[in-house]
This record gives sequence, C-alpha cells and structure tokens, in this order.
Amino acid sequence: MTNTITKCVFPAAGYGTRFLPATKAMPKEMLPVLDKPLVQYGVEEALAAGMSTIAIITGRGKRAIADHFDISYELEHQIQGSSKEILLHEIRNLIDQCTFLFTRQREMRGLGDAILCSEPLTNHEPFGVILADDLCSNEDDPVMCQMARLYEEHQCSIVAVQEVPIDEISKYGVIAGEEIEDGIYRVTDMVEKPPADKAPSNLAIIGRYILTPDIYEILRNIEPGKNGEIQLTDAILEQAKQGKVIGYRFKGQRFDCGSIHGFVDAVNHFFSKFSPDE
Ligand code: G1P
Repeated sequence: MTNTITKCVFPAAGYGTRFLPATKAMPKEMLPVLDKPLVQYGVEEALAAGMSTIAIITGRGKRAIADHFDISYELEHQIQGSSKEILLHEIRNLIDQCTFLFTRQREMRGLGDAILCSEPLTNHEPFGVILADDLCSNEDDPVMCQMARLYEEHQCSIVAVQEVPIDEISKYGVIAGEEIEDGIYRVTDMVEKPPADKAPSNLAIIGRYILTPDIYEILRNIEPGKNGEIQLTDAILEQAKQGKVIGYRFKGQRFDCGSIHGFVDAVNHFFSKFSPDE
C-alpha cells in the first residue's frame, strides 16, 4: 500500500478530570494499562498505519509525555546488561522509528482548538488523529490501518464510529449518514453530544479520525459550539455538507479509558492476552 498519510496528531492537553485524583499531577495519557501508558498504545497504532510523525498537543503539566518518548540516559545506563534491559526495548524501538513534535495548547478551548494548534506540524497534508483515552484493540488490523486504507480509496475526511446504547449517546459526537457499503457511511449530519431524543442515530464518533487539511481554515472561522468550545465535530460537519466525510464502523474493540469502567475493562482485556516472561 502506498502511504500518503505519515502524520498523526494526539490531542493531549485536557485535564483528565474524570480520573482525579490520579491525574492531579500526572497526565491522563500516561495512565498505564498493564505496563504501558495509554499514549504509547496510540503511538504504536499510528506507526502500524505508517504514520511515523507524531504531533502531540500538550499543555501545562504534561511534560511526562515528552519524557516518555525520549531516551532516559541514567535509567538505561543503570539497567544496562541486567535482565531489566529488555523491558525498555519496545519503547526504544518505537522512539527510533518515530519523529515526535510537540506544541502546547495554551487555553482549553475544545478539541477543535487543539487540532488547530497542530497546523504548523502537519505540513498541509492529510493527517490521522488519535484520542489516546479511546483505546482500540485489533491485533491483526489496527483501527488506524483500516482507516488509512479507506482514505486511499475515498480521499476525504473519515471519522470512526461505533453503535452505542442510546442512553449513552449524549457523551459523544453523533453522525447521520447513508450507508454506502457495509459499515461505511456518507455522513450527512453530525451533532456534538446531543440529548438522546435529538440524536440523529446511535452511531457515536470514537477518537480516531483522518482529516484533510482544509479542516484548519474551517476551524479558524467556526463559532464556539457545545459548552462554548471550538468543536471538531462542528468543523467536520462543514466538510460533510460538501459530501466529503465518511463514517466508518471500525472492526475491533474500543475501551473508554477516560472512565473507570472502560479502563478496568481495558486492563482485563489486555491482561487476558498477556504472557508474562517472568
Ligand atoms: C470527544 C469528541 C466527541 C467524540 C469523543 C470520542 O469528546 O468531542 O465528538 O465522540 O471525543 O471519545 P470528549 O470525550 O473529549 O468530551
């Protein structure tokens, strides 16, 4: 497959208030599922899809993320030659294969604003977006790989969607669309966190996107939406009005690791696949 998308944006400036007090002094993206922080799962998924430039939108108090994707000389020197050395191989390989770019979102003005901060890092190219607290699992075909293939076919923005129970729909951006192939929708409408009785469907947007760079101009001009924030959903709707957005019901499991329930489910899921070496 020729890979036209080489960049992936990770919005990671949010406070993680749903996980306080754990996230008081630690970024929520660094919460570990078994022995790996959430953001590392996301970066592995991006790299599997050929996206080796990782653009992380951070904020105050998020330095641990940059440190995680850097070499730790003291630590590596200390454990050199010991049985522990192998524990750092995976992250070291990942670091070697990726380029990490960081910028800060200065004010919490919403997901759309966070994406706008990535403009200088994506070089006017289409790019992936991963929200690391939506942890997706598909060993054979990671979700971002599925979406990158779909992009090659459709050459337009893509949002990952999942059917959710209607009483949970108000937690998500929601799409309406015409199913053009099994699990592939031409999006006709999108609403950010509608009340259940106003939701256009039960297809919720999950934290995986591929966006074309015209999104930036839209984001610059859009009015604040839900909760007074610049909503990515509202900006993608503008693309959808031009018939340029696909909703994709991805194959795999997704865990909402921003909630205790989802997080515990993720830990159990990955533990069931885990084979301890020691
Ligand atoms: C964000 C998006 C929302 C999407 C969700 C997926 O909301 O605004 O459209 O459904 O991520 O996790 P958040 O969970 O950041 O409030």
